[in-house]
Formats: sequence, C-alpha cells, structure tokens
Amino acid sequence: MQNPLLARTLRGTLTLPGDKSISHRALMFLSLARGTADVQNLSSGKDVLSTLTCLQNLGANIAPIGQNAWRVTGGQAFLAPSKPLDCGNSGTTMRLLSGIIAGMGLPAMLTGDESLSQRPMKRIIEPLTQMGAVVQALGTNQSAPLHFLQRQTPLRGVHYAMPVASAQVKSAILLAGLFTDPAESVVIEEPVPSRDHTERMLAALGAQVSLTPITLIGRRADLLSQDITIPGDISSAAFWLVGAAILPGSNLIIQQVSLNPTRLGVLKVLAMAGASVTAEETLQNVGEPYGNIQLHGGALKGDITITPEMVPELIDEIPILTVLGLFTQGMFTLHGAEELRFKESDRLKALMETLKALKVDFTAYPDGFSFEGNPDWQVPKVETPLATHHDHRLVMALEILNLRSFLPLPIEGKEWVSISYPGFYETLSRLLA
Ligand code: S3P
Repeated sequence: MQNPLLARTLRGTLTLPGDKSISHRALMFLSLARGTADVQNLSSGKDVLSTLTCLQNLGANIAPIGQNAWRVTGGQAFLAPSKPLDCGNSGTTMRLLSGIIAGMGLPAMLTGDESLSQRPMKRIIEPLTQMGAVVQALGTNQSAPLHFLQRQTPLRGVHYAMPVASAQVKSAILLAGLFTDPAESVVIEEPVPSRDHTERMLAALGAQVSLTPITLIGRRADLLSQDITIPGDISSAAFWLVGAAILPGSNLIIQQVSLNPTRLGVLKVLAMAGASVTAEETLQNVGEPYGNIQLHGGALKGDITITPEMVPELIDEIPILTVLGLFTQGMFTLHGAEELRFKESDRLKALMETLKALKVDFTAYPDGFSFEGNPDWQVPKVETPLATHHDHRLVMALEILNLRSFLPLPIEGKEWVSISYPGFYETLSRLLA
C-alpha cells in the first residue's frame, strides 16, 4: 500500500477539453462542407489553434461565437496562401492539411517548429505523389518544410497499402481523395486499424466510406455541414484516470468523454492492472460515441502486456501507462511501439531515459521495454531535471508520477502542456483539493 504519509487523492467530477483529433477534423471537414455549422467544445490546445489559423490563411471562414465555440461557413474554394502555413508542433495539422492542399492543387509551403521539422513526412508524400501531387520536402530525410506546387489536373485515385498504422496518413489520403473524380477509386489498407475519426465524420457529413479495405465512396460535393459537439479527449482523461488509479482512495467521474472504440486501449490496460474502472456510453454526435467513465483508486495487481496489435489504440497513452505500470504489482511489458520514436519527441528513448533516472531496473527492446511494478515503490530523490523534450504528454505523465513522490520531481518544460491541455494545472489543483 502507498505510504500513509502521502495521503494525496484525486477526487471529483469533471469534463475535459474537446478531443484533439476530432477537433482538427471538425474544423477541416466543416470548412470543406456546404453550409454553416457550429462547433462546441473545440480543443483550446495550441495544436488545434494551428489548424484553425492555417485554415483561415487558406481563406476558410471560421469565427468565434463563444468559449471554445466556433462557427464555420464552408464550401468555398481555398486560396493559395500568401505566406507559409505554420503548423507549429502539430503533426495532425501538417499531414491532414497536406491532403487538402494536394487535393485542391494549391501552391503552398507548410512549416513547423523544431520538433515537427524532424518528423517523417515521406509517409504522406509517397501516397500523395502516387495520386499526382507534386511536393518537395525541404528538410533532411524528407521532412518539413513541405512545398506543394500548383497543379491544374485533378488527382488520380490510389490503392495504398500503408506500411505503418497511422490515422494521420490514412486521413491525408482520404482528404486528398475527396477531390478526385468519383470514377477514380481510393482504397487504403492498414496493417492494424488506427483511430477512425475521419471515416466516422466523413460518413456523418455525407461522404460515405466503406471499410475493410477502407474505400472512399463520397466526394467533397457530398459533404453537408452539421453542428458538432466535440467529446472530451480520452487521451487527456488518461492522465487523471492513471492518477486516480495510483492514489488509493481517489474517486473520479469523467463526463462526456469520447468512447470511440479505436481509442479505448487505456481502459483495457487499466483493467489489466486491476483498476476499478467502468465506462458507460450515453450519446452519439456526428458518428462519435461518448459517455462517462468512473474510477476508484485501489489495489493494483496484474501483468500489463501491451502487444503490437494494441499499440494504435493507445499510442498517445504509453507515457502515462508506463507510470501506471510502475505502481502495479506484476510485469509491465511493451512491444511493437517503434512508432513512438516519431512522435513530438522520441518517446521510447525519453521514457527509457526517465526509467533510468528513476533507478528502475528495466529491460530495453528495440520496440519497447519491460520492468516489474510495485504498488509500494518509493519514487527516489531526483536532482537532475527530468528532460521532457518539449513534449506535452511526457510533462503530464511526469506530473502524475510526481503525485506519488515525497520530494517534488524537477520536471522540465511545464509550459508545453498547452499543446493539448492548457487547463491541466488548474484541473490538477482542483482534483487534489
Ligand atoms: C492522430 C493520430 C496519431 C496520434 C496523434 C493524433 C490523429 O498519430 O498519435 O496524436 O489525430 O490522427 P499517427 O496517426 O501518426 O499514429
């Protein structure tokens, strides 16, 4: 049992900022669809703001109507942007927007910050080029800036077998596909299913997508606007769920959170750890299910095995699930997580560096790591600042670990939480109070 001197708990009922993945898509798809619609609970994170600003620079009509609420009037042709489109830290912005720009044949330059400029873009350049886009990657190893050249001829269809499971790549191809002639076929095969927000939202707005293999049936002209309420982000919920799980006596209810089945890996892993967690679907909006999750903090026991097939449904939660593993009696084993090397930082390397700094005895693999967890583990004194490589999810995972530490952990780069969760620290104080 946790040391009684450390009597912290997380307690309360909360709603979360809108899901980041769904927020990006709502702005993009409504800008393409015919008509006017309102988006409620849009993510206020910097990543989604990057998408919003880029779309406005392309001529999209998106105006604020309240707190985290925006009105999008879609259907217009986008304009060639007069300056580079700054995607900031956001891979989703750069990769999905590339699909739209390629589809429209617009000349445009897409740039990103230092982290985004190192992330792999060959994965979208390859299929978009097969479809007829002309794009130059100006960074080293086919990375950003991406320079799209103007094109008058429409894109061709494609039958693309993705080498890695990636919702961003899949979405870039589907978005580009919206601009192809309906007689062309746009078919995508995934090695393992990735998050399906694009398929759901396209279908809900009228551009049908059939599955296995993923085949785009509708085109841009089929898209009709609809008001969208964005459910809470389960990737943000994961921090509170793990925090409550490792602090016995905690009790949390998270309301109106996304329960999309392709994102529920975190709940499966909490169940493996023996956490008392339940989820109940209450509503659907624009094809997305959402509902409530309840968790009581208690004893954690069980082997946690994350297999390669499970990785896509918890890809963004691996840093926080590693924290869960540290306090769960049993083996924590992660395999098939090579993709973590290409996120906002090399998360596989960063997590192993952190385990080392915390003096955890772990085994490293090329695609993951393993260690034995212990509910009574005492976080050691750490004097050298823990590097978080400008990575929001590493910062938040370490803040949750910090709740089990007697001495505050020296965590670098706290301001980076604003990428996905600007209110993280306020919510933390509230749940601790
Ligand atoms: C996202 C897909 C995932 C995820 C990212 C958001 C999306 O990336 O890690 O945070 O919104 O499509 P990949 O598709 O590259 O795995």
